[in-house]
Amino acid sequence: MTTAVSQPPIPMASGALPLLGHAVPLLRDNLAFIASLRSQGPLVRIKLQPQQPTVVVNDPALIRRMLVDLAPGLDKGRFFEKMGQVLGGDSVVTAAGTDHVRKRRQLQPAFRQAEIARYVELMRGEVERTVAGWKPGEVIDVREAMVKLSLDMLAATVFSSSLDAHAFERLRNDLSVVMNGVGSRVMLPDWVEKLPLPANRRFNASREAVRAIISEAVAALRASGPDTGDMLSMLMRAEDEETGQPLSGHQICSEVITLAVAGTETTASVLSWVLYELSRNPEVDKRLQAELDEVLAGRPVAFEDVPKLTYLGRVIKEALRLHHTGWLVTRRTLDTVTLGEWEIPAGTELAYCQHALHRDPAFFPDPLRFDPDRWLDEEQVAALPHGAFLPFGAGKHKCIGDHFAMTELTTAIATLAGTWRLSATPDQSVRPVARATVRPSTLLMTPTRRAPRGRVAAGGA
Ligand code: HEM
Repeated sequence: MTTAVSQPPIPMASGALPLLGHAVPLLRDNLAFIASLRSQGPLVRIKLQPQQPTVVVNDPALIRRMLVDLAPGLDKGRFFEKMGQVLGGDSVVTAAGTDHVRKRRQLQPAFRQAEIARYVELMRGEVERTVAGWKPGEVIDVREAMVKLSLDMLAATVFSSSLDAHAFERLRNDLSVVMNGVGSRVMLPDWVEKLPLPANRRFNASREAVRAIISEAVAALRASGPDTGDMLSMLMRAEDEETGQPLSGHQICSEVITLAVAGTETTASVLSWVLYELSRNPEVDKRLQAELDEVLAGRPVAFEDVPKLTYLGRVIKEALRLHHTGWLVTRRTLDTVTLGEWEIPAGTELAYCQHALHRDPAFFPDPLRFDPDRWLDEEQVAALPHGAFLPFGAGKHKCIGDHFAMTELTTAIATLAGTWRLSATPDQSVRPVARATVRPSTLLMTPTRRAPRGRVAAGGA
């Protein structure tokens, strides 16, 4: 990329190889590599494709400018292109410009406050079903259990749980293969995807399977007709603004896959990290228990309780800071744009990393410490630069599921941690690994039942 004489050069990260770009340091440890760029300047170039550098944006003000001010003129870039291989061409996540605005409007009704309020009971039911199967002292693969629970909660709200158990199991496995595949494909040059490798064959087979399973479920529900009040019914009622026609089966299917992809691994990772941090920080766990006693007094959690569970809210916020699930959110310039002192030509890939941003000691003192109370000090929070904490992004592509996710996380943790204490088993190294999202490398935990809290029925005093 050429830069005008008057602007400082954008440094290129060391370690790029001719045909592989930065694939080697990325595959070795992508999180450490991206985090190492933060000290190299507000903008740093890396090579995901040998011929096309990606500009990684480190400065919060410039990240915000990219996400908010420049958003109308940007395409979504490499990460979403790889996601598009899974989602098909019809998803709100991969769309840009007016196409994106239209698709976002079609989905919006499913995320209204009133709808989210209705989902709480469904979400809680799924958590109760999950923990009902736990036995004190057994070893649980918490990462796996949380992926299953997140997909269960999503399926309950999207399709009223109408997938049979076998299809559901297949969907979970195939989703995991495609999400890992997307994570690798972002880091590797495009030519690797074309090689007849087992990983590529697995990716393609799982991608077809995900679409087939969802298509079948969508077709069955469309044929059965009645409005079940779930997200799928709302999508079936939505009209394409341009044509005035109902959405096609393909469009609906792409959006349902989008929700499964955008709302499962993300939620599952945050749930896993919260449980891990509760087990490592007994004082945090104790305060959470006190809050659950005070607010719920043994009652099952309801939508109205969510804003009252303020300590739990801070625990989740701190997990979204320290363990954010995003490691490479991309955009692509369509015209020349100005980013700080730099003029960036059309066709440039841009990216930022929430995981590294949220661990920057310049914004978060003692960044690796899990401290929900860092969000209590209003002065300190107000002093954070705009763009330093972006759990759900910003601008026109800000997470459409942000309130849904916060409600889901609160409901799940209040229910789960209210009845079980989970302890991480010794001798395991729990570290963040980044594929399509950042998640714990492994997380084995043992449940112990909490003392009963004098439970009363939902809606009771
Ligand atoms: C803790 C959980 C979650 C986190 C951390 C998260 C984070 C994000 C972020 C950072 C973005 C913006 C990406 C960008 O800038 O391009 C995003 C977009 C999106 N998220 Fe979430 N998300 C979560 C849960 C969910 C859930 C539960 C759903 C749906 C049920 C969802 C659906 C979406 C969709 C559809 C978009 C695309 C929005 C658009 O481009 O207009 N997310 N999410």
